[in-house]
Amino acid sequence: MPSHGPELRKFVAPEVIFGVGSLQLAGQYARKLGGSKALVVSDPGVAAAGWAQQVLDSVEGADLASILYTQVSPNPRIDEATAGAGVYAEEGCDIILAVGGGSAIDCAKCIGLLSAYPGDIRDFLGVDNVRAPMPPTICIPTTAGTSADVSQFAVMMDSEVKRKRLIISKAVVPDLSLIDPATLTTMDAFLTACTGLDALVHALEAYVSLGHSPLTDVHALEAMRLISSSLLPSIAEPNNLAYREKMMLGSLEAGLAFSNASLGAVHAMAHSVGGLLDLPHGQCNALLLNGVVDFNYGHAEQRYRDAAVAMGLEVGGLSPGDIRKALAAEIRRLQEAAGLGGGLSQLGIHRTEVHELAEIALSDPCVVTNPRQPGQRDIEVIYEESL
Ligand SMILES: [Fe+2]
Repeated sequence: MPSHGPELRKFVAPEVIFGVGSLQLAGQYARKLGGSKALVVSDPGVAAAGWAQQVLDSVEGADLASILYTQVSPNPRIDEATAGAGVYAEEGCDIILAVGGGSAIDCAKCIGLLSAYPGDIRDFLGVDNVRAPMPPTICIPTTAGTSADVSQFAVMMDSEVKRKRLIISKAVVPDLSLIDPATLTTMDAFLTACTGLDALVHALEAYVSLGHSPLTDVHALEAMRLISSSLLPSIAEPNNLAYREKMMLGSLEAGLAFSNASLGAVHAMAHSVGGLLDLPHGQCNALLLNGVVDFNYGHAEQRYRDAAVAMGLEVGGLSPGDIRKALAAEIRRLQEAAGLGGGLSQLGIHRTEVHELAEIALSDPCVVTNPRQPGQRDIEVIYEESL
């Protein structure tokens, strides 16, 4: 938002408990929030890693009943949320616990919305269109990336039209987030890379967003510092809790920043690609990041300089043009070292699809806060250069 005169700022966040062992508080807090039967939403991978069972055990230990729902795809689908809301109603649940990455958490949020106001999730799309508050909701994130556990965003796949749909509302901020860095130790290198780069993009897009404020800047900069210094070490040493803790904290801070400042063209374009081909969200972001930074650079020069400093680059004495090159090189270095180099064509995107992808990206709510307003051709060029 441009700064003309006094501005009002708000900052929304759930209650957060951060630290190894916080997952074990799930049952106790479910009881505190008044629950008697919990729908525990997870996905098959997280369940196989054992984290869902630990949450179920904690819930049982607090004398609450529970039922596990794991019908959640990596890009969760609207019909999976609708089916989950059916289970919630049939089983007489009164609280939702989500344990997983963005997929399980976004699906759980939509189950909550549909449980409070049955119907079609498409009725709630866009900004502030939610009709009724969700039931009490606790999130236990198992990736350091999406920060759906603290954010005002829920993203679902509309398979019928191959598009990602966004719900943006403070009504989808959960009551509580139990953030336990130990859950990150079961992520493989590819998931660590995809989610970690997603978190870095959250911080960078929030920092240059037209909706940024001093309340979000402090979190965005700290997130960039933590993620850029801990991503590669956490891939190299997956069981090193010190690195995992820094990544989890970086992801949390990036989430607090973007939830309140919103995002930009990288996310708008990544949603479009991810919707068409059902691809990993963080990988789409990673491949589009440099193209968007290059497009935006002249409209947020000082902000990108701050970002370069937060990412550990020495910029003293460098011209704006040299800082731009150094930042681009650092982003490329991180992507390639994390195993996410290359271009969109390797993921199956063709030049013939660029026009339609750009049209969809331009209608994404995230494009509104990009520091430079792109037109159809601008977006097409960024896609073409990212192929
Ligand atoms: Fe993201």
